[in-house]
Amino acid sequence: MVDVILGLQWGDEGKGKIVDFFAKDYDLIARFQGGPNAGHTLYVGDKKIVLHQIPSGVFHEGVTNLIGNGVVLDPVILKKECDTVLSFGIELKKNLFIAERTHLILPTHRALDKAAELSKGNDKIGSTLKGISPAYMDKTGRNGLRVGDLLDKNFTTSYIKLRLKHQKLLDNYSFNEDISAWEEEFFEALEFLKQLNIVNGEYFINNKLQQGKRVLAEGAQGSMLDIDFGTFPFVTSSSTITAGVCSGLGVAPQKIKEVIGVTKAYCTRVGGGPFPTELNDATGEELRQTGNEFGATTGRPRRCGWIDLVALRFACMINGVTKLVMTKADVLDAFKILQVCTAYKINGNECTEIPFQMTRINIEPVYKKFTGWNISTSAAKLPIELPEAMKQYVEFINKQLNVSIQYISNGPGREQIISLFDK
Ligand code: GDP
Ligand code: IMO
Ligand code: MG
Repeated sequence: MVDVILGLQWGDEGKGKIVDFFAKDYDLIARFQGGPNAGHTLYVGDKKIVLHQIPSGVFHEGVTNLIGNGVVLDPVILKKECDTVLSFGIELKKNLFIAERTHLILPTHRALDKAAELSKGNDKIGSTLKGISPAYMDKTGRNGLRVGDLLDKNFTTSYIKLRLKHQKLLDNYSFNEDISAWEEEFFEALEFLKQLNIVNGEYFINNKLQQGKRVLAEGAQGSMLDIDFGTFPFVTSSSTITAGVCSGLGVAPQKIKEVIGVTKAYCTRVGGGPFPTELNDATGEELRQTGNEFGATTGRPRRCGWIDLVALRFACMINGVTKLVMTKADVLDAFKILQVCTAYKINGNECTEIPFQMTRINIEPVYKKFTGWNISTSAAKLPIELPEAMKQYVEFINKQLNVSIQYISNGPGREQIISLFDK
């Protein structure tokens, strides 16, 4: 069976740490969507690592990792990531596999991303500028080049043809940055990529399943950034939800068992777009500083606010979440008062559903107030050590979502996680 770990908010929920924590229980960890827009942080000892495209199981001996067909892959970034992983003594020739149907991000995709964002002016999405949207556009537009194409003798001709198409688009945007250095790096990285294990991902994963191997699908971004169900157009360009696992890896829906949804104890977002519980005040700033809320990929300050149960309920529904993990609970240690958004007030009416669009309307969050626990929880190892006020906070969220928080993460470290079932 396949279990899934994915983000329920606007990304950066702590998926990397959680996947790393659970990885030892699985044989294969597979990324099913997104690309180097992701930044998944984990710690090996006291060393911090940010992975962008390589699955977060890579530091576990005996765990195989797959980059699935639903991903858009930047070979230059992959090469850098592989170098980082190698510096920890991990030989990727053995435990990293890449699906041949995975689309490639070309240097011109990055240029197009930048040109498109610039042309949007104040309405810009806040893209990570990694070429994600243009690469997915070439996939659905049936132009893209895939990892498997690298092994074709006509690859360079196909590349030049596509590059010419892109050049016309770039000319339209009057984009004239010189990208020849990016291209040089790109071709070098392609030679490196060719040396890795390029496989037919769908047979690879289904054969593993047939052999009774345990598979964990790792999501990137978050449900509220999903191309269909997120806060469009302020979203990413892939299917970030459970449904994306099937098309992004080639597994059938009935193979999916547990869907582990990751949420922060509060909420953050990076880039533009609606965020009803955002705090543009000293409390928001305190969340940012205490939670060290700065982007793992771009370093941008993350927007911060209280937990939003309207959005979380929606995310649990569209994903079929069976278990919850609440991360960064320790960040709330410092706060005297906590707020939980239970509904939205729109035009004077309370509503508990996510509206069709959230940019053109005024949304006022309806809050329930909680008293904070105000003691440090980062050293706790067992539920019994957690303050009563935190338990009440968790219990309230469980009831509101109709799904239970089963793990509380109380620090960035690998071991800082508490199973609520342990005594
Ligand atoms: P991802 O994209 O979902 O993997 O999340 P990121 O890695 O972008 O952002 C999560 C940040 O929070 C990283 O810096 C983690 O090291 C950190 N983190 C994860 N879990 C916890 C936690 O429980 N407490 C604290 N204080 N930090 C955490
Ligand atoms: P992880 O996996 C947070 C956001 C960008 C921007 C929008 C579109 O680390 O949680 P894109 O580059 O995809 O075209 O950007 O989506 N975004 C993320 N925000 N975490 C991420 O990934 C993100 N990946 C993209 O900031 O608003
Ligand atoms: Mg991240």
